[in-house]
Amino acid sequence: MTRPAIAYLSGKNLRHNISVIQKKANHSQVIAMIKANAYGHGMVETAKHIDDLNCYMGVASIDDGIELRNAGIKSNILLIQGPFQTEDIPLAIQYDCDMVFHQKEHISWLDEVSTPNKLKVWIKVNTGMNRLGFSMEEVESVYNTLQDHPKIKEGISIVSHFSCASKPDGLMNAHQLQCVKDLKRKINTKFSLANTGGIFYFPESHYDYVRPGIAMYGVSSLPGVMAEDLNLKPVMTLKSIVNAVRHVKKGEYIGYSATYQAKEDMIMAVIAFGHADGYPVTAPVGTPILVNGVRCPIIGPVSMDMIILDVTKIKDVKIGDEAVIWGDGLPLDEIIQHTKVSPGSMLALLRSRVKYIWVD
Ligand SMILES: Cc1ncc(COP(=O)(O)O)c(C=O)c1O
Repeated sequence: MTRPAIAYLSGKNLRHNISVIQKKANHSQVIAMIKANAYGHGMVETAKHIDDLNCYMGVASIDDGIELRNAGIKSNILLIQGPFQTEDIPLAIQYDCDMVFHQKEHISWLDEVSTPNKLKVWIKVNTGMNRLGFSMEEVESVYNTLQDHPKIKEGISIVSHFSCASKPDGLMNAHQLQCVKDLKRKINTKFSLANTGGIFYFPESHYDYVRPGIAMYGVSSLPGVMAEDLNLKPVMTLKSIVNAVRHVKKGEYIGYSATYQAKEDMIMAVIAFGHADGYPVTAPVGTPILVNGVRCPIIGPVSMDMIILDVTKIKDVKIGDEAVIWGDGLPLDEIIQHTKVSPGSMLALLRSRVKYIWVD
């Protein structure tokens, strides 16, 4: 038998989540964020499951855009992080991908490119995140310059990104909302601001395009709010099996560095999943894994290929029994309360040795 670490993926739940988001932002078009290998779900397969939904697809580089087009994806594609070098621009034109411009250099790069076809450009504006984007002061003149540019297609949209939208009272939210409101008064075009937090907390941020990432995969990521509360369903259910069962006497030590000592006689199970599969090495004692439908706490440090659980409360646990690492029955939102790792990073860190099976 091959390694039993398997991610079961549900296209049905993915489409359900997009329909929940679409209902919430019913005047906006969805830009499905499938960057970072679709948050670890597999970019091409994810895109194929939603290619008929009239969504844009948001990815981080032209390599992703080319891979999507070569796989036959027809949806509009937006390169959300802009070009990394001049050569990205003709490729974006060739593969019919829209591109974000966020630096003056991008305009000079476009000037250098000789192409009969035009590029579709989005302008990123920095409204407070201070990561990417033209400043509030320069964005109007950049917009005017690009509007008249002979190599740019008609219809330049403006995009910005929340820095604190996962909390309704996040420090920068009001300021960023106001910035976009101000810009909208000055520039008559389409806008995009909201990610998952914006979609659920700030209807006024929906504008013309919303950009869900984590919510699309059925995870809330909003502190104190479970995906189920938002009617979202997990797209990924990550499973493995019990690889070994052992009876341990009170006082014995378990796992690396002998940091965990059995308080009572106990039964422990080894799960075939470790940090080399993508499980956070920092997951503390007590983080649950579901064995035969029962939450069992991790004991001892997470190893490279294995995790040790206290399964004393399960009757007749045996080798081969199912372990749900997260997903159906054990929401990732619950796991991150223990690991304190963002759900996007937990998903995106899954390693290639985990097998992927789309179940519907
Ligand atoms: C520019 C941009 N838009 C949207 C998203 C999606 O964010 P979320 O996963 O919080 O929905 C991201 C995620 O990092 C992003 O960088």
